[in-house]
Amino acid sequence: MLRGDVVNPEQIARAHHIVGRRRELRAVLACLQAGRNVLLEGPVGVGKTALARAVAMGAGRRWLRVDGDGRYTEAKLVGHFDPPGVLERGYVAELFVPGPLVEAMQTGALLFINELNRMPEGVQNVLLPALDEGMVHVPHLGTIQAAEGFGLIATQNPAEFVATGQLSEALLDRFELVRLLHQDAAEERHIVAQDATCEPEPEIIARAVELVRATRHDPRIRRGASVRAAVAIADLATTLDGDLRLAAELALATRIELADARETPFGDVLADLEKKVAAGVTTPAGPGT
Ligand SMILES: Nc1ncnc2c1ncn2[C@@H]1O[C@H](COP(=O)(O)OP(=O)(O)O)[C@@H](O)[C@H]1O
Ligand SMILES: [Mg+2]
Repeated sequence: MLRGDVVNPEQIARAHHIVGRRRELRAVLACLQAGRNVLLEGPVGVGKTALARAVAMGAGRRWLRVDGDGRYTEAKLVGHFDPPGVLERGYVAELFVPGPLVEAMQTGALLFINELNRMPEGVQNVLLPALDEGMVHVPHLGTIQAAEGFGLIATQNPAEFVATGQLSEALLDRFELVRLLHQDAAEERHIVAQDATCEPEPEIIARAVELVRATRHDPRIRRGASVRAAVAIADLATTLDGDLRLAAELALATRIELADARETPFGDVLADLEKKVAAGVTTPAGPGT
């Protein structure tokens, strides 16, 4: 167990406005307390970043954040020697500028890597020994040993998402996995009310949420939308004097993927879903739907 980890899920949820997710928060905190590294996985917009960030901020330790992208490098993660300094004095330790991994290891901090699966393979390879044995080898500097308290919390989208790489089996083996599914309708309404900026009416919020939830169950839609789309719809419908149809058209065009756009055009699918929602034909409630 680590020192200073006397936080509970309720405290973190309250401090960071996390709706629901107590079980997941409890799981993540337990992993960190047990000295395990955690990977949060789930579809876009399910709350991975929000949850990981809340835990990193609320865990009562120093933390650093890194956002994964295809051009991130090992040198960025580990650190580098200041080139003009090296020309003058050679590879001396004071000239090393630590990257977030080395800094987190040296100070016993929590490292939060958002969208880990977007990182190139080289970066993933550097993480292996760091997670495994708590050490990383830096050329010209030597081996860095992790101080007590070092831990990793990461997020990733599941493999079927566009622009998503796969973590190696070896790296996955160093993580405990917390899977996030979409939340139930009541929790989604709560999130929309919290995140919307145009103060939408409860009725508009409810319809926006139902519409977005319906996109996740329709066979004509390959990939449905997240609560983030519901926030956009509720805000737009408010500024459009209740025109949910136009709001949904604007918000969903970029956020759903049709199974076959030629057979069932976007406008038709949307009109149909909207009619069903208006008629009160709602999707089954409950987590994971
Ligand atoms: N349980 C939750 N409580 C509060 N806000 C949430 C929750 N889940 C998602 N959100 C909000 O929904 C949006 C999408 O969440 P985000 O963490 O960015 O998703 P992801 O990282 O999985 O793509 C954010 O604005 C976030 O604040
Ligand atoms: Mg995210």
